[in-house]
Amino acid sequence: MHQDIQSVLFQEDRIRTRVKELGVAMTRDLAGRDVVLLALLKGSVVFFADLLRAIDLQLKVDFAWVSSYGSATVSSGTVTLKVFPDEDFSGKTVVVVDDILDTGRTLASVVKKLREERKAADVRTAVLLDKAARRVVPLKADYVGFPVDDVFVVGYGLDYSDRYRNLPYIGVLRAGCYSATPESS
Ligand code: PRP
Repeated sequence: MHQDIQSVLFQEDRIRTRVKELGVAMTRDLAGRDVVLLALLKGSVVFFADLLRAIDLQLKVDFAWVSSYGSATVSSGTVTLKVFPDEDFSGKTVVVVDDILDTGRTLASVVKKLREERKAADVRTAVLLDKAARRVVPLKADYVGFPVDDVFVVGYGLDYSDRYRNLPYIGVLRAGCYSATPESS
């Protein structure tokens, strides 16, 4: 697995430090609110588990399973909500947590649904990585771990073809290890 990584972008200790900083900021900003932290599966699973423990507030967690890629690297351009909470989020601040903000389609679609259909009082967004160069839908996350260039990153939850999620660091995948397309993440 490690031999497929061209270079390490963010080592474990750097990620740990940054996630703790995000947790401190969220603890400060969200105090007094009725908070639900919503993980977008599968990519956010590692980030979510760490971020959750860095927020020193009473909160609830929930999960949505959302997919935007038709194949391993090619975005279908359509966001499929495979599993989504059916509860009413009236009066609640929902913080959507994802691993990476790329074209913005996934997050925009989830935020819209939470606001319009689940009646969330407020919706915030937290992403570990922000690949701004690839944005199609104008969207700025409220909490961002690190900006990243348009390179194919894996690890710490991020995958290629559902693999590499268990790498403890975030690295750039070697070109020979994936099929490059304009829509690859
Ligand atoms: C990835 C990633 C984000 C989304 C970002 O999910 O986890 O949810 O794409 O892309 P976008 O900004 O262009 O919408 P993916 O659909 O690959 O599923 P996964 O979380 O299971 O990896």
